[in-house]
Amino acid sequence: MLSGLFSGSAASPAEFSQLRQASVEFRGVVKQYGDQRVLNGINLTVNPGEVVAILGPSGSGKSTLIRLVNQLEALSSGDILIDNRSTRGLRGRGLRELRSRVGFVFQQFNLYSHLSARENITLALTQVHGWQKAAAQQRAQALLERVGLLDKARHYPAQLSGGQQQRVAIARALASSPAILLFDEPTSALDPEMIGEVLQVMKSLAHSGITMIVVTHEMPFAREIADRVVFIDGGEILEQASPARFFSHPQHPRARRFLRNVLDPLHQETRD
Ligand SMILES: Nc1ncnc2c1ncn2[C@@H]1O[C@H](COP(=O)(O)OP(=O)(O)OP(=O)(O)O)[C@@H](O)[C@H]1O
Ligand SMILES: [Mg+2]
Repeated sequence: MLSGLFSGSAASPAEFSQLRQASVEFRGVVKQYGDQRVLNGINLTVNPGEVVAILGPSGSGKSTLIRLVNQLEALSSGDILIDNRSTRGLRGRGLRELRSRVGFVFQQFNLYSHLSARENITLALTQVHGWQKAAAQQRAQALLERVGLLDKARHYPAQLSGGQQQRVAIARALASSPAILLFDEPTSALDPEMIGEVLQVMKSLAHSGITMIVVTHEMPFAREIADRVVFIDGGEILEQASPARFFSHPQHPRARRFLRNVLDPLHQETRD
């Protein structure tokens, strides 16, 4: 399915012209920072095209889990397989190709402030993937249109609202037609009124064939758009279920307390 992912073949515009599907399998994934074990043997398979919401309290290991997929962090042990292929020990071209198949959307957008919206999108296409400038610009225009920002192509990040910046960041993540998109709390740095426009873009991507792993505190997204909810605490998966089941009948006491606290934040509970 992802032929060429780890091969030495040069990326060309044609190879990036369509979204492909991919599975992600966490196999015994352990991550330690010094003595602290922040992921404690995670086993999880995300199916091609599936939308999985990762929920859990602060510090539970959610960001670490998804950052391991495109190797923003290095595994301590275990493996992460994409389309049934090990990604351990990838470097150089192999790692670049992996990252072109796996887009990442950060909480703080991480746009280049000295580049326009369009240049933020074209940069990797021309510098990493060898696209001609005109083709990259055409692709950027199409992606900006897709996220509703065609009229902002020449704007710099400082001239855009938070919601608009995040939509540019999503367009940038889509530039190389990734098969997998990872989101790390994409709306939590936004004013409440801007959350909807970003969730709408994410909703438009969900079930379009792309595999999505979304760390989020947006319960409406998890409830209405995700196919599956995975609840993490203490570096372990404590529960996974369909949203309907998770939100109506959470099984694990910690998940029940988490939901009570999220849904009623003025009455925080510290015990299950
Ligand atoms: N680079 C690092 N060095 C040392 N410890 C780290 C590092 N990154 C994360 N940690 C620790 O790993 C644990 C899990 O962090 P992580 O950021 O994955 O949590 P999280 O679930 O994403 O939390 P939040 O909801 O607050 O974003 C935390 O205890 C954190 O302090
Ligand atoms: Mg986090």
